[in-house]
Amino acid sequence: MLKLGVNVDHVATLREARYRGREEGEPDPVAAALVCEDAGAYGITAHLREDRRHMQDRDIWRLRERIKTRLNLEMANSPEIVGIALKLKPDIVCLVPERRQEVTTEGGLDAAGNLTALTDTRKRMNDAGIEVSLFIAPDPAQIEASARIGSQIIELHTGAYAESFGSAVKRDAELERLIAGAKQAHNLSLKVNAGHGLNYQNLPLLHRVPHLVELNIGHSIVSRAVMAGLGNAVKEMLALMETYGG
Ligand code: PXP
Repeated sequence: MLKLGVNVDHVATLREARYRGREEGEPDPVAAALVCEDAGAYGITAHLREDRRHMQDRDIWRLRERIKTRLNLEMANSPEIVGIALKLKPDIVCLVPERRQEVTTEGGLDAAGNLTALTDTRKRMNDAGIEVSLFIAPDPAQIEASARIGSQIIELHTGAYAESFGSAVKRDAELERLIAGAKQAHNLSLKVNAGHGLNYQNLPLLHRVPHLVELNIGHSIVSRAVMAGLGNAVKEMLALMETYGG
């Protein structure tokens, strides 16, 4: 069965919109992660960005302490964040591009253009007992480079597939690229994950891609949670207002 890693970044995005700079606020991404685990998530994914636009340092330390499944830390290959990851010891780090020069034309990490730096970080993580995943486009050169770097996992970037979903021709072409990429990676003994832009509409067709182990999904799950929970939230507030004696 496919495993689900839930990305809780967007819970923090909502909190930061109101409580930026404060030590506490709602919604709490750690509490959200525990709900995801209870519902059957295989792991929790969080991206500690260099600009800290959503997850804060305290969030990832609390996630590390509180969650019972696997912590997948998405991160740029930057000295500051590498240092934090080596202390935090997530189960997996997924190296992602944050800066323009680290990105391939298709949006994933430019593994082929950063062999030395990525191999160095891969070794340091593995030496600390942390598995390494590289977030790359389904591009043969990037997959080949990921194997040369020695990463255990690749996460195929499904953004182009998701964006082309409205056009059957483009969508099928993107699906073919994902299928070919997954086969190539599997033949190179890489574990194959996928993510970005996956939602309740485009997920069923992704079943055509072989060798997938885990999907990392964030935005659509958090969006669905808002819509699924909004009615109850309004009812609870109305219940508090009902007793007003004015
Ligand atoms: N995988 C990676 C590497 C990501 O950076 C993200 C977040 O952008 C996701 C998966 C989840 O994407 P989404 O929020 O679109 O589901």
